Amino acid sequence: MDTNAFFKLSYGLYVITSKSNDKESGCVINAMMQLTAESPQIAIAVNKNNYTTELIQESQVFNASVLMDDVSMDVIKTFGFQSGRDNDKFKDGNYGTDQNGLKYLKDASATFSCQVKKSIDVGTHILFIAKVIEAKILNEGEVLTYAAYHEKKKVKKGWRCTVCGFIYEGENLPEDYICPVCKVDASHFSKI
Ligand SMILES: Cc1cc2nc3c(=O)[nH]c(=O)nc-3n(C[C@H](O)[C@H](O)[C@H](O)COP(=O)(O)O)c2cc1C
Repeated sequence: MDTNAFFKLSYGLYVITSKSNDKESGCVINAMMQLTAESPQIAIAVNKNNYTTELIQESQVFNASVLMDDVSMDVIKTFGFQSGRDNDKFKDGNYGTDQNGLKYLKDASATFSCQVKKSIDVGTHILFIAKVIEAKILNEGEVLTYAAYHEKKKVKKGWRCTVCGFIYEGENLPEDYICPVCKVDASHFSKI
């Protein structure tokens, strides 16, 4: 199988947030799509190891912020490269609160408040199908695509994950390195 074929699929980038009691987190995802328009529903696929996934399973609610083209890499690093288990991801930044009491990024293009209707175990990930209970445009302008994100992040030296395209910056990839995006081990990385 030529896994490069998967890089031909186009996506946007989103920050999904959730909380359960006093636990709160959020993660960057590309795997989100609209399913229906009348009684709007969306679907997201999130890794079982993500803290955010655990919180969605507990609370059955999440918020999706649509990232804009000029989003700072710090936002992507905060929500995409570290876990909320060990970090307070919301200590910096500008957040609003949605109907479910969940944070959204005020600098995002749009925000969706969602209530889970169905959860499907798809192996490494859970597919959450959710009803959109509120949707709001926050800022006009271009939204970030997955392809534009990779351009933004282009580096001369590093290692690319052959499964998801994540790039590790640096000459030497640690032997025990785990991809922060799709959680595969160092053997799945190739030098660029
Ligand atoms: C560009 C990019 C795209 C990502 N896409 C997804 C995705 O579609 N699904 C997913 O589960 N994780 C995805 N991730 C990985 C999570 O954002 C990452 O593992 C995050 O640190 C999990 O945080 P948490 O443990 O606090 O939930 C992506 C990360 C980046 C940087």
